Amino acid sequence: MDSILVRGGTELAGEIPIAGAKNACLTLMPATLLSDEPLTLTNAPRLSDIRTMTQLLASLGAEVTQLQDGQVLAMSSHDINNLTADYDIVRKMRASILVLGPMLARCGRAVVSLPGGCAIGARPVDLHLKGLEALGATLDLKDGYVHAEAKSGLKGAVFEFPLVSVGATENILMASVLAKGTTVLKNAAREPEIVDLAQCLRRMGAQIEGEGTSEITIQGVDRLHGATHPVVPDRIELGTYMLAPAIAGGSVECLGGRMELVSSFAEKLAATGVEIEETAKGLKVTRKNGRVRSVDVETAPFPGFPTDLQAQMMALMCTADGVSVLEERIFENRFMHAPELMRMGASIDVSGGTATVTGVEKLKGAPVMATDLRASVSLILAGLAAEGETRVSRVYHLDRGYEHVVRKLSGVGASIERVHGE
Ligand code: UD1
Repeated sequence: MDSILVRGGTELAGEIPIAGAKNACLTLMPATLLSDEPLTLTNAPRLSDIRTMTQLLASLGAEVTQLQDGQVLAMSSHDINNLTADYDIVRKMRASILVLGPMLARCGRAVVSLPGGCAIGARPVDLHLKGLEALGATLDLKDGYVHAEAKSGLKGAVFEFPLVSVGATENILMASVLAKGTTVLKNAAREPEIVDLAQCLRRMGAQIEGEGTSEITIQGVDRLHGATHPVVPDRIELGTYMLAPAIAGGSVECLGGRMELVSSFAEKLAATGVEIEETAKGLKVTRKNGRVRSVDVETAPFPGFPTDLQAQMMALMCTADGVSVLEERIFENRFMHAPELMRMGASIDVSGGTATVTGVEKLKGAPVMATDLRASVSLILAGLAAEGETRVSRVYHLDRGYEHVVRKLSGVGASIERVHGE
C-alpha cells in the first residue's frame, strides 16, 4: 500500500488549481440515467470515487467515456439493460445510492444494494427511501437490497425532510423531475452541489425553482434531453488548500476558488489572523508570521461550517495560540483523526461530539494512519507544520477525493512525496 511522506517546515508560495467537486460530480453522473440522450460533464475531477461511479453506471448499461484526461465525462444512458445496482460496487461508496431515484423515475423499477456502514457513523438512507415513498414508490427491503417500484410512474407530492440531508435531497430531486405533477421539497439541503445539480437538470429540460433555499419546487416533465454541464469547483478541496499556507506559513492562491462556496469557513479562517483576498483568478490566503489564533467551530449544513472541513481545521488549531472547541454536529464518530494528530504531539480532548484542542508551539513528525478521506488530508496538512518527517499510510482514502495532492502541494514548495507499495 502506498504512503505519503511529508517533511514539515517549508513556507508555501504559488498557485493551486482547484478541481471540479467530487460530491457534485457523484450526483451529476447518475443524472445521465434520467435521459436517453447524452449528458456530458466538463471540469470533472480525476478521482477513484468517480471511477467507482463510472463502474456502477456501466454495470447498469450506461456508457461513460473519459475525454481530455478524465476532465470530460461523456455519458449516454440510451440502453439501460440492468436495473440492479450490485452490492459489490455499492459497498465501495455510499453515493451509489444516488442511482436509485433516477433509475426508478425513468424505468419504473430499481433494485439497489443498501450501502454498508461507514467509518464516520451509521449514515442510514431512510430519508432517501421516505422521500421516494412520498412520490408513490413501493419499497421492499430484501436480502440487503432495496426493491423499488413505481409501475405507473412517480407522482408529485409535498415532502418535508425531517432532517437536512444532502444525498436524500439530491436523490428525490432527481426522481421528481420526471414525476407527474408538482413536487415541493421542504427542509431541503442548500449545498452548492444541490444548486449545481438543479442547474444541470434544468439544462436537460427539467423545471425546477428554489434550489439553494430550503424549499425546492419541481414541475414534472415527460422526458429530459441531452446537455453539457461544467461541474462546480470543489469547495472542500478549496478549503483544504486555503488551510495549507495558514498551517505552513506563506501564501497560496487557489485558482478558481469562489468566496460564496466557502463563506462561513473563510470567516473562521480569517478570524485566526490569516489574510484572505479575492483575486481575479481565485482566492489567495497569506500567513505572514507568528502563530494563528484559536477559534471555535461548530459544523452545520450549508451555509454553515462544513463537516468535511472539520478535520482540516482541527489540524490548524493544533498549533494555534489558545484553546479551540470544535463541535461536530453532522456525523457521530468523526474525530478519528484526533488520536493520529495526538501522535504528532497535538493536545486534544474528545468527549462525544466535542473536541477541545489546546494549541502547541510545534507538532512533531510521526508515522500516522489515514482513517477516512478528510482525516487523511488533515494529517498531510499537519505534516506541513510538523518538525521532521510525517508518514501517512492508507492513502487510498485520499485518492477517493483529492486529485494530484502531491503534485499540487509540491508545486507550492511543500516537501512531499508518494512512496509506492509500502
Ligand atoms: C454528503 C457528502 C459528504 C458530506 C455530507 C454532509 C456526498 C457524496 N457526500 O453526504 O461528503 O460530509 O453530505 O455535508 O455528497 N441521514 C439520515 N438518513 C438519511 C440520510 C442522512 O439519518 O437517509 C443523516 C446522516 O447520518 C447524517 C446527516 O443525515 O448524520 C447528514 O447526512 P447527509 O447530508 O445525507 O450526507 P451525505 O449525503 O451522505
